[in-house]
Amino acid sequence: MGIPNRNFSYPTALKFGAGRIRELADHCKANGMERPLFVTDPGLAAMPMVERILADVKRAGLAVEIFSDVRPNPVEDNISAGVTAYKAGRHDGVIAFGGGSGLDIGKMIALMHGQTISVFDLEDIGDWWTRADASKISPIIAVPTTAGTGSEVGRAGVVTHPVTHEKKIIFHPAIMPKVAILDPELTVGLPPKLTAATGMDALAHCLEAYCAPFYHPLSAGIALEGMRLAKENLPRAVKKGGDLDARGNMLVASAMGATAFQRGLGAIHALSHPFGGLYDAHHGLLNGIIMPYVVKANRRKIEKEIERVAAYLGIKGGFDGFLKWVLAFRKEVGIPHRLSDIGIDAKRLDEVAAMSIKDPTAGGNPISFSEKQYKTLAKKCVVGDL
Ligand SMILES: [Fe+2]
Repeated sequence: MGIPNRNFSYPTALKFGAGRIRELADHCKANGMERPLFVTDPGLAAMPMVERILADVKRAGLAVEIFSDVRPNPVEDNISAGVTAYKAGRHDGVIAFGGGSGLDIGKMIALMHGQTISVFDLEDIGDWWTRADASKISPIIAVPTTAGTGSEVGRAGVVTHPVTHEKKIIFHPAIMPKVAILDPELTVGLPPKLTAATGMDALAHCLEAYCAPFYHPLSAGIALEGMRLAKENLPRAVKKGGDLDARGNMLVASAMGATAFQRGLGAIHALSHPFGGLYDAHHGLLNGIIMPYVVKANRRKIEKEIERVAAYLGIKGGFDGFLKWVLAFRKEVGIPHRLSDIGIDAKRLDEVAAMSIKDPTAGGNPISFSEKQYKTLAKKCVVGDL
C-alpha cells in the first residue's frame, strides 16, 4: 500500500487561558464585527456571567444583542427564530456561546441567515455544502462553556430533524469559527453531572477518532494526548468544580477530540445519535454509557490500537485492562452502566438500529455492523449486558 493523498486542516485560532473572555470584543472587531448576535441557551442567558460579558462587549463599543431561544437538542425552529433575530438586528457576525447546543445553533444562524434553501439541504453528504452561498456566511467567534463537544473547532453542527427525529450533521467549511476562546473560568459553574457527561463526549471523540480505520496520523496523535488529558483531569473537574487546571485541561481535551474526529467517529456516536433524537437524552451521557459496549463489540478490529492507547495511558493489561479502566473511570465520574438507568426502554430498538446504520458516523466504525448487529448492540446498552 502506498501513502494516500489526504487533506489535513487545523485552522481555528485558539485563545486559551483563565480570564481570556475579556478579549472577546477585540476578536469581534478583528473579524469585522460591529453588531454581533450573541447566541446562547436560556439557562446561560440568565446567568450573571453572561450579563458581565455582554456589558464588557458593549463598553467596547459593539452593538451586541442576545438570542437564547435554543433547546438542548436543537431543532430547525431554533435556527429560524435565530435567523429572524439576526436579520431584524442587522447583525454582522455571531458569538456562539455555550455548550453544544448554543455553539451549534450560533453556527447554524451564521450559516443560514443569507440562504434560500433549508438547513437540511446542507446535510453532511457528498458535496451538498456547495449548495450554500458561501459569500452570505457570517464570521463566528466560539466560546465553549462546557468541555465536550468541541464544536468550537468544527465545521459542522447537529440539528434534530422535526419529522424523523434523526440527528442531522450540517456541514460547511465556512462555519469553522475564526477564533475560539477557551477560558476555564467559564466552565467552573458547570454541575458535576454535566461536567462528567460532557467530558465523556470528549473522551469518546478521541477514542473513536483514534480507532477509525483511516490514514490520519495527525489526528491519531492528537486523539491519544486528548485521552490522557481526559483521564487525568475529568475526575478532578467532577469532584472539584473550581479546579482551574483540571477545567482548562478538559477544555483542551475537548478541542482536541473535535479536531481529531475529522478522521472519523464510530458506533458510539452512531448509537447515541438515534437514542438522543428519540429520547431527548444528553449526548455525552449517552456516549459515556454506550462506550464500553462498543469497545467490546469492536474488539477483533481494534485490539492493537487499544493496546497502544493503554500503554500510553499507563493502563496495565492491554485490551482487557483498558476495558476495565473504562468501566472504573465511568463509575468514578458517576456515569451509569445501562441506558435503562436513565429511563430509556427497549421499545424502539428497531428504529434505533435503522437510524444507526444510516448515521454518517457509522462509516468510521472499524467494523461495518449490520442493522441487526446494531439492534443487538443497542439492546445490550439498554439492559446492561456487557
Ligand atoms: Fe459527540
